[in-house]
Amino acid sequence: MNIKDKVLEKLIRNKGKPVSGERIASELSVSRSAVWKHIKILRDEGFMIESSTNLGYSLRDTPDTLSPGEIKAGLETSFIGKDIKYFKETESTNILARGMANSVEEGTVVIAESQTGGRGRLGRKWISPEGGIWLSIILKPKMQPQYASRITLLAGVCVAKTIRGFGLPVKIKWPNDVLINGKKVCGILTEIGAEVDMIDYLIVGIGIDANVDTESFPEEIRDSSTSLKKETGKEINRVDFVKKLLEEFESLYLKFQKEGFPKILEEWRNMSATIGEWVKISTQTRTIYGEAIGVDNEGALILETSDGQLEKIVAGNCEHLRRT
Ligand code: BTN
Repeated sequence: MNIKDKVLEKLIRNKGKPVSGERIASELSVSRSAVWKHIKILRDEGFMIESSTNLGYSLRDTPDTLSPGEIKAGLETSFIGKDIKYFKETESTNILARGMANSVEEGTVVIAESQTGGRGRLGRKWISPEGGIWLSIILKPKMQPQYASRITLLAGVCVAKTIRGFGLPVKIKWPNDVLINGKKVCGILTEIGAEVDMIDYLIVGIGIDANVDTESFPEEIRDSSTSLKKETGKEINRVDFVKKLLEEFESLYLKFQKEGFPKILEEWRNMSATIGEWVKISTQTRTIYGEAIGVDNEGALILETSDGQLEKIVAGNCEHLRRT
């Protein structure tokens, strides 16, 4: 953590109460003028910090941004989100994450307030205005590339559990669209850098329509999308959400490494909106209709077609069909 984030962390821990500049300086082993310099930067970033000559600095209010200092204050993880790279605007956090993956620690998170070229699955665009949560987690799992989709499913479970913690009913549409009342609130794009038989890095890109007005989305996705703000009727605290998300992610990722995929798959199945549904799957080469009867140990969807054949779908677009 840099000095500015450490100063902020101390103010957040004592929110509303004054902390003396002398105490901050001595605890961080820096000069009082260095503390003052960082207080000024934080104020420029929108943090409301009062100062009084005798008592010190007290934090009154925080800006509505995903500031790394705020996210890291009290974050209960050991490696996910220990390093957060923050951008006001970028083309795509996944692109940035790929570029830095080889030179940063596992668990580094890239986060942006908005994306100008957000990327979705199957080459689609991902609309990413301010108010949403657009982040990518850099992982370095020791596993073969064909198992990467296990982590995609894990990420879906993670987002779904985090949203459920905010009191909303949530389901997952295969492979990892998170739905509230049948409408999409989150999408996940996993990308890997790999040798033939070993993953170098894996990027989990998570996009959540948090405090976003989906009414302003293009017509073709407007009716099928929703936001946390719309579902709860109020703006959610995005910093709290990201903290919970990162904590949940680390806990599931460690469970996956210790106990393997079956436990994660069981959680995925329990939240699945797809199993038991009639679906239309479109892949690059064909369209298949059938009943979704399960997901296998690699995260592939198992379909039973109308002529009783079993089909295994590794990747594709999944549409739930209305039964007639
Ligand atoms: C989907 O099509 O459902 C996946 C959408 C993934 C969007 C996220 S937002 C953060 C990260 N950066 C990107 O460019 N895409 C992912």
